[in-house]
Amino acid sequence: MAGGEKFYVTTPIYYVNDAPHLGHAYTTIACDALTRFRRLDGNDVLFTTGTDEHGQKVENSAKAAGEAPQAFCDRVSQTFRTMNTLLGLDTHDFVRTTEERHIRCATEVWNRIANNGQGDLYLGKYGYYYSIRDEAPYDESELINGKAPTGADVEWVEEENYFFRLSAWQDRLLEFYDSHPDFIGPAARRNEVISFVKAGLKDISISRTSFSWGIPVPNDAKHVMYVWIEALCVYLTGAGYPDIDSEKYNKFWPCSLHMVGKDIVRFHCVYWPAFLMAAGIPVTKRVFGHGWWTVEGQKMSKSLGNFIPPKTLVDKYGLDATRYFVLRELPFGSDGDFSHRAIVNRINGDLANDLGNLAQRVLSMIQRYCEGRVPKAGAFAVADEALLRAAHELLPKLRAEYAMPAYHRALDHLWAVVGDANRYVDEQAPWALRRSDSTRCDTVLYVLAETIRHLAMLIQPVMPTSAGKILDQLAVPGGQRDFEALAAHPLAAGTQLPRPEGVFPRY
Ligand code: MSP
Repeated sequence: MAGGEKFYVTTPIYYVNDAPHLGHAYTTIACDALTRFRRLDGNDVLFTTGTDEHGQKVENSAKAAGEAPQAFCDRVSQTFRTMNTLLGLDTHDFVRTTEERHIRCATEVWNRIANNGQGDLYLGKYGYYYSIRDEAPYDESELINGKAPTGADVEWVEEENYFFRLSAWQDRLLEFYDSHPDFIGPAARRNEVISFVKAGLKDISISRTSFSWGIPVPNDAKHVMYVWIEALCVYLTGAGYPDIDSEKYNKFWPCSLHMVGKDIVRFHCVYWPAFLMAAGIPVTKRVFGHGWWTVEGQKMSKSLGNFIPPKTLVDKYGLDATRYFVLRELPFGSDGDFSHRAIVNRINGDLANDLGNLAQRVLSMIQRYCEGRVPKAGAFAVADEALLRAAHELLPKLRAEYAMPAYHRALDHLWAVVGDANRYVDEQAPWALRRSDSTRCDTVLYVLAETIRHLAMLIQPVMPTSAGKILDQLAVPGGQRDFEALAAHPLAAGTQLPRPEGVFPRY
């Protein structure tokens, strides 16, 4: 995809009283890198994130803090806004589920399902094991030694609830997966979801009467909506629903991509499309379930107390290195253990030795040999053309990887060219050419500078600040940093460059 498209990407909304950790930051950084990539590629992108603020757990936390639930949410939702600032997010909308716009949206979705004439919503008796910590009901068959599969304590609850007739949606969901092969990524998660649906679906309870901190069910205010059904509606809220005549809604719905962790794939790939279809609203185009950051094999989480706050990493290693590390280290979709040694290896290896050294060496030679001006290239030799071709071929390769998205592979392609460029410097030895053949020396340095420009431009989505510094050192004007400029504005011979400075210090 190359420009002119509308793209809407969402992070899940974070539980408002959770403590931001690397797991949350991972989803957010991934969405931000994708947003930046698509914007630089000429697309109109809506990027939303936010906080999930209703439910019994929040009500209990507010009580424990001696605050009214709304005041509690107003205060603690700030921690996620602070995380977004820390992570350097590009323009995005932060949607809170206690906002009026969201209440309107969820109420409208509820009404549409209730009134769809298919009996998808009905009142029934519901008995279940409930884990406050997980905000999730469990069947007896799911319990392990009397606890939730996550290890959380559960209690037995019985109440009159509204139900969603999910059992009636099995065939329609399977048909939907069949006709929309890209709906779930990666492939392994798609297979898991299909097997789950094929095994048969039970109706699900979608309201609660045992507490009141939630969105009231229309025309039956002793019920509040079960937090998951209304939380999913936040994606519609972000697109301006229920204002279906608005420009925003028409531009951005159906949503292009919900990025989620693998623990919440079922909510997004089974319940959510069924709710949307039942409400007569077009279904999101794709859901991608990424893996978990673990610590000694266990999911990083607040409740297990094994979490790493993003601030610890940013303070210690810097923002760009942190962003690079999380997107490069794990194949996007797989789990992986966090280790400080791994991040230091990436910083010293990929960033300082490979890319940093390449930029520093080449820019210093241009400074010394060419009076700090972009040199003029002569005729290109085979090796020059090969390196330039590799640089030019990066954009289409990255487009394909970001479409998945497969950040690790996008970065592998970039670092393959970093490696090619470093080998080319050694083979061409411009320091020797400088004496033997100055025209050839200029050509080699031009080819390298142009290759570094491509690399820096394409690294912007992941490391915006560092890439910006390299582009500054190549005197690339601010208006020539989008991907269209890759081919349209090659470096102009004679341009004066500032003194080079190292961009990636060793740790
Ligand atoms: N509030 C729900 C989402 C509702 S969306 C309509 C929720 N919140 S959460 O705060 O628990 O998780 C938010 C996101 O962070 C999820 O995508 C989750 O998978 C991700 N992560 C939380 N811990 C994680 C790791 N340890 N590793 C990677 N991501 C994980 O779920």
